[in-house]
Amino acid sequence: MTPVRIAIIGAGKVSDYHHVPGIRLDPRAQLVAVCDADAALVEQRKREWNVAFGSTDYEAVCADPRATAVIIATPNFTHKPIALCAARHGKHVMCEKPLGLSADEAREMYQAAQKAGVVHMTAFTYRFAPAMRFLRYLHKTGALGAPRHFRSQRFLDWPETSWGWRQYKEKAGAGDLFDMTIHRIDFARDLLGPIRRLTGALARFAPRDRLPNGQPCPTSDVDDWSSILGVFACGATGVWEGTTLAKGYHLRGFGHEWAEINGSEASSVYRMHEPNSILLGKTGQDLAPTPVPAEFLKPKGSPRDPASGDPATVFRYDLAYEFVSAIVERRPSVPSFYDGWQAQVAADAVIESWESGRWIELPAEIV
Ligand SMILES: NC(=O)c1ccc[n+]([C@@H]2O[C@H](COP(=O)([O-])OP(=O)(O)OC[C@H]3O[C@@H](n4cnc5c(N)ncnc54)[C@H](O)[C@@H]3O)[C@@H](O)[C@H]2O)c1
Repeated sequence: MTPVRIAIIGAGKVSDYHHVPGIRLDPRAQLVAVCDADAALVEQRKREWNVAFGSTDYEAVCADPRATAVIIATPNFTHKPIALCAARHGKHVMCEKPLGLSADEAREMYQAAQKAGVVHMTAFTYRFAPAMRFLRYLHKTGALGAPRHFRSQRFLDWPETSWGWRQYKEKAGAGDLFDMTIHRIDFARDLLGPIRRLTGALARFAPRDRLPNGQPCPTSDVDDWSSILGVFACGATGVWEGTTLAKGYHLRGFGHEWAEINGSEASSVYRMHEPNSILLGKTGQDLAPTPVPAEFLKPKGSPRDPASGDPATVFRYDLAYEFVSAIVERRPSVPSFYDGWQAQVAADAVIESWESGRWIELPAEIV
């Protein structure tokens, strides 16, 4: 079988953390090119990742026949031009979240990839966590009863120094909302279906006007706390809260993540830092840990050994497995650019709600 030949565009932290290890695990995939705007980083990654072809020019990489697929892991403001270029050259494309700087950008990316007939995927990592996969199964098979409430908390204890490009609206679109909460909007949609209406609130507490080395830098203009109250089309209610300023929530750098469904029969909780177990409880009981059954520890066929590595890290490698599987099996990837677009519709509505002081009705999704 001809391998899926992948180029990484954006050779920074997330590519090194899970995209490249995910590609390495999959015998059907081959890392053939590395592209980054930083020429020194290209040379470093060529050595570290053992890749012969490196470039600072994403257009050249997208046009090169050596690659059949690209993974875009660059700052948010560059996602749209790179994804459109990849689609123009007929490359399958996985793009990091948020897909764009706005829902309009995300829609354009979805439409371009659809028109080009390429596989398109949004890197919504937490859908792949074993506990999330099992929670979804319990809900979809009715084990929790009728869903009533969804609750998501993502609390990180990050330094209050500069976040680099992430702390400027022009480059990131928004702060915690687009960086963290957008994942939680996505898995809430995946669990409970479309969100019908929402209201949101945002805040910025830390000026982040110093680099980690103490040098001054321009003040951040994005949120570092985001929250949503919502109602799903299925009738369930949702509450989301995320912050990077939760002191005491370091938890080995993974932070606190809690997402639950309260159904008419039972409640069940996913926790990212304990991804191989869920909490489960029926009325009159206390929530208690339950191991995730073996068939939910990884997608069927994934070459990953679930017993190997830190469980809070290694499930992320299954993103590449899904992307490659969709290409090999000639089927749409899940989650797709459509999901990235819809999550961004909701995230944009949070900003609109906060700025206008109103609840926002979301447009019906295409089914
Ligand atoms: N899915 C997840 O769990 C997850 C986790 C972390 C980051 N992310 C997303 O991944 C993306 C990258 O985040 P990161 O933490 O790796 O950032 P990073 O700053 O470490 O890396 C980004 C890299 O892109 C390069 N770059 C910038 N412009 C470029 C261009 N035009 N062409 C080629 N390279 C370019 C930069 O030089 C840098 O090396 C962001 O969109 C972020 O939201 C997702």
